[in-house]
Amino acid sequence: MEKIVILTGAGISAESGLGTFRDEGGLWAQHRIEDVATPEGFVRDPQLVHDFYNARRAQAAEAKPNPAHEALARLQREAKGEVVIVTQNVDGLHEAAGATRVLHMHGALDGALCAACDHRWGAPLTMAPDDLCPACQKATTRPDIVWFGEMPYYMDGIWQHLEEADVFAAIGTSRQVYPAAAFGQHAGRAGAHTVELNLEPSANTRDFAEARHGPASAVVPLWVEDVLSL
Ligand code: APR
Repeated sequence: MEKIVILTGAGISAESGLGTFRDEGGLWAQHRIEDVATPEGFVRDPQLVHDFYNARRAQAAEAKPNPAHEALARLQREAKGEVVIVTQNVDGLHEAAGATRVLHMHGALDGALCAACDHRWGAPLTMAPDDLCPACQKATTRPDIVWFGEMPYYMDGIWQHLEEADVFAAIGTSRQVYPAAAFGQHAGRAGAHTVELNLEPSANTRDFAEARHGPASAVVPLWVEDVLSL
């Protein structure tokens, strides 16, 4: 039974209206990473960080899955073997399209975390620095998002999936942030057929055995069709 492991990035949600990070005018052109996506930035100005994620949460709440998200959910339903989606994205569009096995390695906008007692709960649409943790009642709540310098979630399981993969596909990601940037090499070394599905060639597209370039909503359904017809 063929095992397929898929890494997705902001590009798969671009056609759902959600911004990417490093494209022209992307999120990191509008905000300094050190201010809104590091633990130090959160300690310095928690209101600024909550405002950044409140805006992204409101935008994500209005966004709809696009044909690329729907195609991956179809692949999970119809493929004979296991299909695992590892996403760097914090929107819920894979789940909204019906995907089931989705590992949010960078957390999720709909999650809240207590920095004091590690309690996790469903984030309200708007969070603020004086929100109290429902468990320990301290004003130490934060978005359940993995920031730069923090360890991504599910890494033990992800390395295992990559070693077991027959096919590894990277979709809509510039593959510039580690450890995700190394997933293709790790899976390829373990024998997986590696595919890049991206709007344009990424910086290290030649690491991959196969590459298809174009908008995810066009490229991904065609790729899924081909995989299911094998
Ligand atoms: N279809 C397919 N690919 C697209 C589309 C589209 N419509 N639009 C953009 N892309 C591609 C771009 O070519 C680029 O390679 O999506 C990629 C987006 O790259 P980034 O903006 O770097 O986003 P991502 O790779 O997800 O960033 C990874 O970096 O800042 C951190 O935590 C953040 O999870 C994020 C991580």
